[in-house]
Amino acid sequence: MIRSPFFTLHRDLPREGPGERGDVAWAAEMAGLAPDARICEAACGPGADIPALLFAAPEANLIGFDLHQPFVEDAAARFAGDPRVTIRQGRLIATEDGLPDPAALGPFDLIWCAGAAYIEGVTDCLTAWHTALAPGGHIAFSDAVYLTGSPSAAVRDNWADYPDMTDADGIAERVTAAAYRIVATRLLSDAAWEGYYGPIERRIASLRPGADAALMSVLDETEAEARIWRAHRGEFGYLLSVVTPA
Ligand SMILES: C[S@@+](CC[C@H](N)C(=O)[O-])C[C@H]1O[C@@H](n2cnc3c(N)ncnc32)[C@H](O)[C@@H]1O
Repeated sequence: MIRSPFFTLHRDLPREGPGERGDVAWAAEMAGLAPDARICEAACGPGADIPALLFAAPEANLIGFDLHQPFVEDAAARFAGDPRVTIRQGRLIATEDGLPDPAALGPFDLIWCAGAAYIEGVTDCLTAWHTALAPGGHIAFSDAVYLTGSPSAAVRDNWADYPDMTDADGIAERVTAAAYRIVATRLLSDAAWEGYYGPIERRIASLRPGADAALMSVLDETEAEARIWRAHRGEFGYLLSVVTPA
């Protein structure tokens, strides 16, 4: 078991980024998902969105993957015994290490990617996933966006690790650059953010007593992130986009 401060905080959390069941239901409707759809949960983390994906497509064949083995183990344990679900280690975009990417695992009717496309870049992920889609297939992905042209210094600082973060128009440009068209977009709700920060704040409170300096620093940093969201939620959000090849 990995015992880094990051996984001490994150292990067994219900989800690793903002999201809620209604987002999945909405995206499934926008994509016209069939009950027996082939679905990829790309960078699934602990697999928070898998139950909602299965609710939308009850006879689905679903493959979830993540790069990090502790998340793979969490998700695999959660869905052990469900013949519709396979969880494995994989990558958003293939490298020479041989781990499969969506193109190697597909074809899919829907690739669902919550809060992770930014890791390789929206344009690069979408471009790489053309060959992972079945004819008529869709991708639904969420990405952090600025909601104002003049975000405060605190917000810019909060997102310093994502220098390419843009706004809704910028996402549209990236979608077009990757040869897709937007079917629909919507911003994630406050409830979706609370679904991420609520459990993590409770975990932080429980870990503070006895935390060493390294863990305390991760707890402080994550708590500060949640505070920034509560104080500045009008300045940034997550845009959920449903797209299909142009
Ligand atoms: C912000 S979390 C989102 C997880 C999940 N989709 C959710 O909403 O709970 C990003 C996830 O991407 C995974 N990840 C990071 N780099 C990756 C890569 N190159 N390929 C696949 N997964 C990756 C991380 O392990 C993490 O689970």
